[in-house]
Amino acid sequence: MESCDRTSVAQSWTLGYHLVVDPKYRGKGIGTKLVKHVEKNLQRAGVTKIILGVGIDNLSTVPFYEKCGYKVMHDAVLFAKDLYKVH
Ligand SMILES: CC(C)(COP(=O)(O)OP(=O)(O)OC[C@H]1O[C@@H](n2cnc3c(N)ncnc32)[C@H](O)[C@@H]1OP(=O)(O)O)[C@@H](O)C(=O)NCCC(=O)NCCS
Repeated sequence: MESCDRTSVAQSWTLGYHLVVDPKYRGKGIGTKLVKHVEKNLQRAGVTKIILGVGIDNLSTVPFYEKCGYKVMHDAVLFAKDLYKVH
């Protein structure tokens, strides 16, 4: 069974990135190259899984991530908390 202490979780997962390609250059494969670049670097750093979220108002980008090999998670809900608001 996989160990699940804080260190191994931190090394094994990363929570998504916000990716934007200048509208003038979209549809030319740049987004795909950026995703591959990020994945390679995270993999080198020992990260074994990426979880990313897409805004509910931005579901049109789902096919892009699917083409990059990501699968929609049906067994999880993402939570967020802004730590700069925590005193
Ligand atoms: C999503 C985004 C990063 C894609 O970048 P890109 O450089 O245009 O992507 P690519 O050219 O590598 O496209 C790869 C494939 O995904 C498809 N695709 C890209 N954007 C898509 C979209 N919005 N809807 C549907 N399909 C899309 C392309 O048609 C292409 O398919 P193909 O290989 O069959 O031709 C870019 O559209 C963008 O910056 N959008 C605004 C910001 C955003 O919504 N980011 C994602 C949420 S964090």
